[in-house]
Amino acid sequence: MPTPIDEGGTMQSLFIQGGNPLRGRIRVSGSKYSALAALPATLLADSPTVLENVPDIADVRIYIDILNGIGAKAERLGPGVVRVDPRGVNRHEVPYELARSMRASYYLLPVLTVRAGEAEVSFPGGDDIGPRPIDLHLMGFRRLGMEVRVEHGAILTRSGPGGPRGASIYLDMISVGATINMMLAAVLATGVTTIIGCDRGPHIVNVADLLNSMGAQVQGAGTDTIRVFGLGPRGRLSGCHHSLIPDLSEAATFMAAAVATCGEVVVEGVVPRHVEAMTLKLREAGATVLENGDSVAVRGTGRLRAISKVKTGPYPTFFTDFQPPLTALLTTADGTSMVVETVWMGRLRYIAELQALGANVQVTNNTAVIQGVPALSGARVTAGDLRAGAALTIAGLMAEGRTEVRGIEHADRGYERFDEKLRGLGALVSREA
Ligand code: EPU
Repeated sequence: MPTPIDEGGTMQSLFIQGGNPLRGRIRVSGSKYSALAALPATLLADSPTVLENVPDIADVRIYIDILNGIGAKAERLGPGVVRVDPRGVNRHEVPYELARSMRASYYLLPVLTVRAGEAEVSFPGGDDIGPRPIDLHLMGFRRLGMEVRVEHGAILTRSGPGGPRGASIYLDMISVGATINMMLAAVLATGVTTIIGCDRGPHIVNVADLLNSMGAQVQGAGTDTIRVFGLGPRGRLSGCHHSLIPDLSEAATFMAAAVATCGEVVVEGVVPRHVEAMTLKLREAGATVLENGDSVAVRGTGRLRAISKVKTGPYPTFFTDFQPPLTALLTTADGTSMVVETVWMGRLRYIAELQALGANVQVTNNTAVIQGVPALSGARVTAGDLRAGAALTIAGLMAEGRTEVRGIEHADRGYERFDEKLRGLGALVSREA
């Protein structure tokens, strides 16, 4: 498990006084997945792009630093608004430490290869949630005619003769990152690229919409087969204005937190369809969830019921990022629940910390069997990744007494103003370095 350290190098703790129901309204920020793909995608254009609804989270701040570090001019113009001027890009090597600190730095491989003929990006880092191979990305780049080498912890890509050329690519696993990387690599290729086995999430559609607004021709995003009609090496993409979709994982986390504390919260600025998997599971547990336009009202009353089985998978099935918040909630549900994590093999590690709070959970391989207890009791626990931070915070809000969640800065990688939003709902939380 990595040492929890924030951007300034200090470990931070969230102190939670449990037992207070969350009440009120919160507004969901823009999508982390869309933002981390849209920022590098802007470099494919030859004029500036303005992105709206960009969340102010640690990974986005790092990405803005990366873009500035390679010569682009990326700046926040106001809340949620980021402008990227790609014209000054003058480096094809992404600064090692920045690239290493997150997963999504690999989107710069196709972008810089298309723009500058080559790219060098350190092997991506990100949350410690089990093995995170990138074999599909590298296979796809090669199919598109790029030369790919892995040396000394870095990935080096180079444009083959004549630039990228369209190809048929079959993705053996449904992958958010590989689907986006194939689109980025194919928009300026010569000929048609067919990507089979794509992720179908709304973030894929959002990124394809951005590329199309820039002048690309991407069809089929949101289905399992995407076709990209490449514009060829002489093709040009232009900057545009583009708005990012709401963050479904943040919305689902606050829905779970509200129900877990027997509270009543209206989650605003969300696309209810995107969080339907969470809605259905919360209803199964006995919560009330009402969808109304772009908001979802959730209410938890009394003890929840166990859920016989929750199995994670790619969108639209129960999204893996929803799993830790829901598992936290099930620790006090009446009966036995089973949670099967199929995407990230290390994503049940935080359960040892839930046990420290009094949860009765047995983990075998990728399956957690949860025997609901009447109550959790506050303790000192440590978050090893972003969603673990959210899950342990929810557990702390449910627990009797005081809980300290160490490593809470992991949550800042994906949740904008996490503690402030919780306090706005009446949570008794404070942060200390
Ligand atoms: N996979 C491979 N080979 C590859 C790529 C993926 O085997 O080349 C496997 C992975 O090991 C995993 C599955 O495919 O079992 C899905 O991985 P995916 O590529 O979709 O993950 P990702 O793109 O690296 C993004 C999010 C994750 C989120 C997953 C959901 C970003 C920056 N990250 O990761 O976010 O859990 O999709 O599939 O977009 C989080 O926010 O907490 C988080 C971890």
